[in-house]
Amino acid sequence: MDRQETQQEPKLSETEKNTGGDAGRNTQEAATPQPQREPDNVMVAENLDAYYGKFKALDDISMKIERHKVTALIGPSGCGKSTFLRCLNRMHEVIRGARMEGTLQFEGKDVVSRDVDPVSLRRRVGMVFQKPNPFPTMTIYDNVVAGLKLERRRKKSDLDEVVERTLKQAALWDEVKDKLKENGMSLSGGQQQRLCIARTLAVEPEVILMDEPASALDPISTQKIEDAMDDLKKDYTVVIVTHNMQQASRVSDYTGFFFIENQGDPGRLWEFEDTEKVFSNPNRKETEDYVTGRFG
Ligand SMILES: Nc1ncnc2c1ncn2[C@@H]1O[C@H](COP(=O)(O)OP(=O)(O)O)[C@@H](O)[C@H]1O
Ligand SMILES: [Mg+2]
Repeated sequence: MDRQETQQEPKLSETEKNTGGDAGRNTQEAATPQPQREPDNVMVAENLDAYYGKFKALDDISMKIERHKVTALIGPSGCGKSTFLRCLNRMHEVIRGARMEGTLQFEGKDVVSRDVDPVSLRRRVGMVFQKPNPFPTMTIYDNVVAGLKLERRRKKSDLDEVVERTLKQAALWDEVKDKLKENGMSLSGGQQQRLCIARTLAVEPEVILMDEPASALDPISTQKIEDAMDDLKKDYTVVIVTHNMQQASRVSDYTGFFFIENQGDPGRLWEFEDTEKVFSNPNRKETEDYVTGRFG
């Protein structure tokens, strides 16, 4: 069942029908007029395949990323979650021999065609990596504004404002406001990761991709990142890969479960639903086994 259908039962377009499957749909229900509000999707992937050379890592992934929501991607290691995340901002093609097929739209426009500049896409679809990677020679302040300084000169007061706003959004401000001129590497791992989140926010992306941002962090930093997430989705759209089921169920609105049925198969999107449904009453047995910790 399509996730939007579960939520508000809008009339489905042809493409929507194709992406979610319609198992269990009640025809009578579908015929009843419903108040219509098209879901506001920032990104739409359709029939996306991803390869590393001859190796097919992802098969036929269709997913809609709704604006101002948190979408969690879960599933066993090696099922292509990171690959999919990198497809979303065309970081995938940076890897030698890697390519993707299918369609990917950002704000209603195809972003895979040759005339789309991947650099501008990556600016609007920012990424936070698993391992915090602050610029080692820079201060906390300069780390945050690094992406802005590259493009054009801005007034110092503007930069100050960006630093404060993004560090607050990343739930780090109180801890660093009195030492902005210290080196970014002087921070703890958890603080460094929040610094990297602030750096990503500073260029004002629309979508933030996070690949297991808290997997190497202490519980308090993890908690702070989760707390920040609720605030973040007021201004941004977040897609987060996580191995932490509690985290997925706490922070996300939608959950996609990636799975490989037989060894050697590419990763597939096994289930995509409202988070609540995935964790309480998933459609497929493998999803249930995974979210209840029976394998993975
Ligand atoms: N840079 C790469 N080159 C070749 N194969 C890769 C590369 N990155 C990932 N893969 C392969 O693609 C598959 C999916 O990997 P990945 O997207 O990292 O999965 P996940 O994030 O779910 O653990 C795996 O079989 C992995 O070995
Ligand atoms: Mg991964």
